[in-house]
Amino acid sequence: MRQAPASIAGDLALLSGFGATQDGIDRRLFGTADYAARSQFVAWARADGRYVTQDRAGNVFAMRAGRNAASPILTGSHLDTVPTGGPYDGAYGAVAALWALRALDADGIETECPLEAVAWAGEEGSRFPLGCLGSSVFAGLNDLAAVEALRDDDGLTFAAARDGETGLLRDVPLRVETRAPSAYVELHIEQGPVLERRGVRLGNVTAIAGQRRFVVEVTGESGHAGTVPMSLRHDALGATAEIILALEAEARSCSEAVLTVGRLVVEPNQTNVIPARVTFRVDARSIDEAQLSRLAEAVVAQAELAGARRGIRARVEAIERRAAVAMDGRLRAALAVSFGTLGVAALDLPSGAGHDAMCVATISPAAMIFVPSAGGRSHVASEYTSPEDLDLGVAALARALIEIDRRTAKEH
Ligand code: GLV
Ligand code: MN
Ligand code: MN
Repeated sequence: MRQAPASIAGDLALLSGFGATQDGIDRRLFGTADYAARSQFVAWARADGRYVTQDRAGNVFAMRAGRNAASPILTGSHLDTVPTGGPYDGAYGAVAALWALRALDADGIETECPLEAVAWAGEEGSRFPLGCLGSSVFAGLNDLAAVEALRDDDGLTFAAARDGETGLLRDVPLRVETRAPSAYVELHIEQGPVLERRGVRLGNVTAIAGQRRFVVEVTGESGHAGTVPMSLRHDALGATAEIILALEAEARSCSEAVLTVGRLVVEPNQTNVIPARVTFRVDARSIDEAQLSRLAEAVVAQAELAGARRGIRARVEAIERRAAVAMDGRLRAALAVSFGTLGVAALDLPSGAGHDAMCVATISPAAMIFVPSAGGRSHVASEYTSPEDLDLGVAALARALIEIDRRTAKEH
């Protein structure tokens, strides 16, 4: 039988030891810490009697049998983190999936559909330049062969990392078939301030914002910081600064869009050398596709403008595009009923953060449950959700799985 820690907060505290640094949790896909977290997920699942498999994208699945052989109702989230992550983003939904299945065991509840917990691989895009990596391959949105060729900052390919020491789990069989799930529910921390500010403990997600990501490479002319007159410079970093500020202004002028440049590589990155080249990534989000398109056009236009103004070259490459996606109306109704049985008020709200649910939603009905994030903080070490809210989310998820199973069985 399962030993302590006997709470989801305890399990998440244990997981947060994998990849702990002084700046937070660094659990990038197929690193040592990520391997340890996936192994722990498998150990917990197996202790509960689940049948565990993995696929070649690195996703891990834990099956609880149903009365019939229908496609499973899938629930989970990701175990990887950003390099300065907190303990709850992703890990909560993956571990909560195991807790919800366990709650059904404890109550002796059998379902018609099999229920499956999943830990998606590489949702954050922190190692390989693609977010929602595992779930996008699962949903057929990205080709495994193309993903296998992606390289990390050290030039290592996804395939090499996956086939290395801390890639696929050594003792877990490969999944032979992939069927679209009957339904997908993802439980996640909100990562924003809305629930906390409204004093509501559960969120029923209406839609997930679309995302566009770009790499911009700005090439100028290097030289001596002391000798080249200002009027003769083609400084790649100065041009980059102009582009970033212009994009920020464009995003501010949109009613419902955000844009971030969070990664910048300056070469040669020396105090007394004029920057020769800057490579940066742009991340734009909006629920409104028209505003996303406007930002995408601005990236190209501002790069061209800066090029002309400053005599530099700016090359833009689109590396990721995910459409805004509405959550399934019928699943949302099932969530609302489940929340009602708990007697807890819930709020309908959109998600500005990206989630694996946006990929799975392209092949099956999908919905998401949010619990509050203290101060709305996420992607930082101080990310926090109270143990009571973590437990409530698990209870809501367990009820939702029962309700979705009941409705799915009726439809068949
Ligand atoms: C994932 O957390 C994302 O929204 O980028
Ligand atoms: Mn997440
Ligand atoms: Mn995240």
